[in-house]
Amino acid sequence: MGVVGTGYVGLATGACLAYVGHRVTCLDNNEERVACLREGGVPFYEPGLLELIAKSAGRLQFASSERLTEVVRGSDVLFVAVGTPQGSGGSADLSNVANVARAIGRALGGSTPRELPLVVVNKSTVPVGSAYYVSTLVGEGIDEAGGQGAEFRIASNPEFLREGSAVHDSLFPDRLVVGTDSREALEALRTLYTPIVEQSFPTEWDPRPKVAVPFVTTDLGSAEMIKYASNAFLATKISFINEVANLCELVGADISEVAYGVGLDDRVGSRFLSAGLGWGGPCFPKDVAALKATAREYEHETPLLDAAAAVNERQRRRVIHKLQRDLHSLKGRRVALLGLSFKPNTDDLRGAPSLTIAGALNSLGAKVVGYDPVAGKAASQLTPDIQAVFDPYEALRGAHAAVVVTEWEEVKGLDPKKVASLMREPKLIVDGRNVLDAVASQEAGLLYRGFGLGYDRG
Ligand SMILES: NC(=O)c1ccc[n+]([C@@H]2O[C@H](COP(=O)([O-])OP(=O)(O)OC[C@H]3O[C@@H](n4cnc5c(N)ncnc54)[C@H](O)[C@@H]3O)[C@@H](O)[C@H]2O)c1
Repeated sequence: MGVVGTGYVGLATGACLAYVGHRVTCLDNNEERVACLREGGVPFYEPGLLELIAKSAGRLQFASSERLTEVVRGSDVLFVAVGTPQGSGGSADLSNVANVARAIGRALGGSTPRELPLVVVNKSTVPVGSAYYVSTLVGEGIDEAGGQGAEFRIASNPEFLREGSAVHDSLFPDRLVVGTDSREALEALRTLYTPIVEQSFPTEWDPRPKVAVPFVTTDLGSAEMIKYASNAFLATKISFINEVANLCELVGADISEVAYGVGLDDRVGSRFLSAGLGWGGPCFPKDVAALKATAREYEHETPLLDAAAAVNERQRRRVIHKLQRDLHSLKGRRVALLGLSFKPNTDDLRGAPSLTIAGALNSLGAKVVGYDPVAGKAASQLTPDIQAVFDPYEALRGAHAAVVVTEWEEVKGLDPKKVASLMREPKLIVDGRNVLDAVASQEAGLLYRGFGLGYDRG
């Protein structure tokens, strides 16, 4: 089988399927990426992925997209896992997917008749209806190559992994979703995923008892929608708790107590109920925007999604307001951003709140120093708004204020006394993730502000 795209999703998918016993070739049109993989590296930070690849050696190969034709001809199943960034008007930019689909068609069209049809599996996050679009483009590619009748089937297999735990999530997913109108495609994917569904591979990665993974089979459009609805729901859940957190600041309640009490209800659940500066990353913002864009195509209103996005934008502005409340003018103030990647355990800066916060601070005249255990260098290359340093205490030295942007262990574990000794008055800490010990911070002489933590710490 083959995987086109060796990003967080394609590489985790390819490595995971090779680990459970399949022969996999991963392709990418980024030559640097392929060279890095061929030399035994991983081109981005993802815990455990290097080890998973090493354990799959012999079954896992990496190649440039130039070898697509060969891989198409030698595969039963081909996953498409290329990027679908936010395009104009918020809609998903499908140009990478379209390029790959046409290329697959050309490769198929020029080949000798196949015993089994090629199953083209869309793993990229794409709007409802994209499977038919991909199918059309593969067909066009086949025609271009003059190979009418070349057989292929389409399936949608959206991905739900989280960066930072991509290996775990690929091997132990909550569910696998396959949408297709082809029995052959369904059977091919069922066979491919059997070791994961049955958890019949060495479980040294995870000590949990083996429980069968739900294998959800549905139509193409529903599979595509499941992905968007999942991300939109999670984003809305975070915005919901942030809305309540903002009310907690006004009425004097503590959101951490409230979220705990609410989350114990099985119908609600405790995950994604952490108040703070809001969601970001390469998926939630673009997927919520794409779902809204799809709705607009049908002249359908999405008040709940609009509100979820608006609340999230407001949370970012609240960081600035919290700084202004205690520092007043930010001109000439030194502000340390602690954590720059969009979440811990990844180096991904796409949609990272740190970037918008740094931009806003700079426009108000503040000097921004950023610390991140892995994404510091990339952040300073990406924007002149952040001067990156590689030690958190270095970032805090002489800072009037610090913002906890990403809850890395390295940030959570900072010694409040040492922090206070390095900072300048008013030694303000805006804890954008509510992860520091508020009492210990205050006792150390820091001015602590979290999100939704009552009158004093809000
Ligand atoms: N990152 C996540 O956490 C996550 C989770 C679930 C779903 N997704 C979805 O999965 C898809 C991939 O996401 P990602 O984060 O892995 O993206 P990524 O940007 O990390 O990787 C995409 C890869 O595709 C390659 N590529 C682009 N066009 C190509 C082409 N024409 N031929 C060959 N290779 C090509 C790029 O060089 C890159 O290596 C997106 O649709 C995304 O929304 C991402």
